[in-house]
Formats: sequence, structure tokens, C-alpha cells
Amino acid sequence: MNNAAIGVFDSGVGGLTCVEELVRLMPHENIVYLGDTARVPYGTRSRETILKYTRQDIAFMEQHNVKMALIACGTVSSVIMNNPVFDGTGIKEYSGVVIPAAHAACAATKNKRIGIIATSATVKSGSYGKVIRGIDPEIKVVGKACPLFVPLVENGYTSPENPAVRFFAEEYLECMKREGVDTLILGCTHYPHLKEVISQVMGDNVTLISSGAELAKYALKTMTFDSTLADRSESGTVELYCTDSEELFAENVERFLGKNINAKISKCNLKT
Ligand code: DGL
Repeated sequence: MNNAAIGVFDSGVGGLTCVEELVRLMPHENIVYLGDTARVPYGTRSRETILKYTRQDIAFMEQHNVKMALIACGTVSSVIMNNPVFDGTGIKEYSGVVIPAAHAACAATKNKRIGIIATSATVKSGSYGKVIRGIDPEIKVVGKACPLFVPLVENGYTSPENPAVRFFAEEYLECMKREGVDTLILGCTHYPHLKEVISQVMGDNVTLISSGAELAKYALKTMTFDSTLADRSESGTVELYCTDSEELFAENVERFLGKNINAKISKCNLKT
């Protein structure tokens, strides 16, 4: 048993899709979340910059003595794959979204054609292709960067009725339809907020995999196996930190996390 908090971080609000699932699966856990809202998006930046920001995010997690760090950002998860950013830190248990989401997609596909939509940095890294081919070399992976999805989500444009949302969803997903994928990984944790429009464009027969939610499921499995779940009968606390305006962040939190999760929101400064 371990009553320390689970740490979760992302460049912005996207990682809240992981928090939502963590609270549903493990209501007694304390959660510390960091959204680096002052510097979102990460996905269009260079590898060096993403690694620098990631080290600062990890240092913040360390300050909070988290028992496990969850990288609820597809971009960071992909870029750190060959970079040991956790070495020398006090954090021994951590996971990104790529491996849990890739396993879920491989289990779901029937026609062995998996699509992956994500930020430019994630698609460019080829992270999902490498993991999926390691699981089953016969699976065809089709990747597509959707750079305008993150600003749409961060600004609250998620309704399928919104003409801009509809236009970009059709534009970005056209290649996935053409390739006949039966499973589509939402490889950026912001994208589940566009699930409705994505599902409408792709059709009911395509399974959508939320990378943030798969990460939460993976955390539950790991902590159950390691016996590190919290020993607490009351509900856990949810502390959310942002690096830009608390007011702006609070609007998004309410929109994305709903009103049922009682979260405390604070602004923080990352050590640079
Ligand atoms: N949530 C981040 C991800 O999953 C995307 C946003 C960004 O580009 O920073 O990749």
C-alpha cells in the first residue's frame, strides 16, 4: 500500500482524459496533475525543446513525491522513448500513453489495419508503428498528424455541429477511411474531446482508442500488481496545477472534467 499521489502531466488540458478515467477506476487515489498551459502546444516544437520542458515537468512531479508518474501527453510519450529522462530522478515508476494504447489497439483490430491520429511530433517519431509492429508485424499502421485539433479543443470548439470542427475532421480522417482502418488510436490526449465528430466521420464500425484512458487502465494494473494502491476509505483529492492563468484553466477543467470531480486548481511556476 502506498498513499502518495499519482502524478499526471500534459502540455495542457488533454491529460484530463486520463485523470477522468483514473478517478473512475481508483476513486481513493490522490492525484496531482500538471498542465503546462503557458507553453501548450508541445506537439509543434523541436525534440530538444520538448525534452527540456519534459525534464521540468518531471522535476515538478518529483517535488510532489508521486508514487507513479503518468505522461498523459502523446507527444512527450513519443519523444522520450529513446531518451532516459527519468534516470537520476526519484521517480521509479512511470508510463507514457504509447505502449498501453498500442496494446489496446492490437487487441481491438480485426482486419489488422490501425490508424493513429496525433500531433506532428508524435507522428514524426513513428513511436506507435514501432510498438505495434513489435506486437504484431502483420499489422498495417497509418499515421496522420492533425495539428489543428489541439487549438480547437483548447478553445472549446468540439461540437460536431460546428462547421470548422466538421471540416477539419473530414479533411484529416479522409486517409483513414481510404485505408479502411477498423481501429483508430486517438494518440493525442486532447482528441477524445472530439470523439463525437471523429466517430461520426469514421462510422460505427471503427473502434476508437483513447490513449489517456488506456494509460489510466495500465496504471491500475501496475499498482495492483505492485500492491501500491492507496489504503484509504474516503475519496482521494485531485490537485490540478497550470502554468498560465488559473481562470482560463478552470473554464476548461469544468468543460472537460465535468462538475462531479471536486478539484483544487492552482497556478505554479516550473523550475527552469
Ligand atoms: N496532449 C498533447 C498530446 O497528447 C498534445 C498537445 C500538444 O501538442 O502539446 O500530444
